[in-house]
Amino acid sequence: MAKDSLTITDNRTGKTYELPVTHGTIRALDLRQIKVEDDDFGLMAYDPAFVNTASCKSRITFIDGERGILRYRGYPIEELAERSSFLETAYLLIHGELPTRSELEMFTHNITYHTMVHENIRKFIDGFRYDAHPMGILTSTVAALATYYPDAKNVSDPDSRRTQMYRVIAKMPTLAAYAYRHRRGLPAIQPDNDLSFTGNFLSMLFRMAEPRYTPNPAIERVLDVLFILHADHEQNCSANAMRSVGSSQVDPYSATAAACAALYGPLHGGANEAVVRMLNKIGHVRNIPEFIEDVKADRGRLMGFGHRVYKNYDPRAKVIKRLAYEVFDAVGKNPLIDIALELERIALQDDYFVERKLYPNVDFYSGIIYQAMGLPMDVFPVLFAIGRSAGWLAQWEEMLGDSEQRIARPRQIYLGAERREYVAISER
Ligand code: ACO
Repeated sequence: MAKDSLTITDNRTGKTYELPVTHGTIRALDLRQIKVEDDDFGLMAYDPAFVNTASCKSRITFIDGERGILRYRGYPIEELAERSSFLETAYLLIHGELPTRSELEMFTHNITYHTMVHENIRKFIDGFRYDAHPMGILTSTVAALATYYPDAKNVSDPDSRRTQMYRVIAKMPTLAAYAYRHRRGLPAIQPDNDLSFTGNFLSMLFRMAEPRYTPNPAIERVLDVLFILHADHEQNCSANAMRSVGSSQVDPYSATAAACAALYGPLHGGANEAVVRMLNKIGHVRNIPEFIEDVKADRGRLMGFGHRVYKNYDPRAKVIKRLAYEVFDAVGKNPLIDIALELERIALQDDYFVERKLYPNVDFYSGIIYQAMGLPMDVFPVLFAIGRSAGWLAQWEEMLGDSEQRIARPRQIYLGAERREYVAISER
């Protein structure tokens, strides 16, 4: 009769241990009983970059990287992209169920009610250099929001948590648009609460002298779907930052700022920007073979390809590739699409990429769409952050409600110097 356990023999001592296996996992702490001497610390698992370590139990997002499956709360990403809206998806991520009509109306009302930011925040943004990267501005101003809402530190109060979640989701687009307009030397546009979440964001980005901005419905829908596709991705680098920083019970604005900082990196949310830079550098389809040879010779990466979890086509990339044409129909084609398509075609036939299971990820086509919408490259990670804020908050809420979670504090293998005497500077 098969047993849900693992038997380990420690060859250093000849002792045998039986560890329970639950959900295909052993508890790392169960290893600590494995010792050579009684006063040993006990065995640990070494797992740099958490490649094979589950840091939590979660009910939010499911990914099967081998089969290219992504589901939020059980719903396939393709169906949500087709039928849901970003705010409905945000509700789903946070509450675990799709809202009824009245629940969605109330949620939408609550988000809309919080879209404005304190006037001081706008002045704070004015203090950034004229060419400050919008992601740097967003990260800093989200952190600054904590100083406006001291009640946010009551992280054990569910009502306070709920209010802060509305505020974060509502204010991210406002801060993002202010950051963009600061960079362009344009005046900040106040939220228009008669527009949809995404329509209002487009208004705050693009409104000029007209008294009222009317978003292009195709662009509004595509951007809303892009927010859905970016809304969560289980324990990715920025969600892990959100949980890890949030585990100290700091307020959610500070934790969200940490998540934004993680997202800023070129290996995470900065990759869409890097893809467009790469495509511009390639410049023409005829230069692709030479570029591919450079990548294979380790002289650079094919940005927008590869993923820690997906060893198959990223399901989000499939949806985004289709959305690209909807955007091109509305605002004209981005010529970089031809280079991207050819790059993908060649890479997917090349042994180097096939053997390593490197496929396009979410960032491969998203930057091309954003650029066609008239957005500069350094705004791309900011757009990612707007969508992902829903997932960060859902992960944060789940973490705080999980009795098994404590302050995140990994162990290390110390390989540094043994104890030594301090030497005075004159004697070194
Ligand atoms: N181009 C060329 N080679 C690659 C690429 C790439 N984009 N990605 C991975 N490889 C190669 C590595 O060189 C390595 O080869 P080796 O075994 O011969 O040394 C092998 O594939 C495994 O790569 P790792 O770096 O070990 O994979 P890891 O899981 O650590 O990295 C990552 C995943 C960071 C996404 C990586 O694939 C990458 O750098 N991609 C480009 C950046 C990018 O698109 N990031 C966006 C990720 S999605 C997101 O965050 C939203």
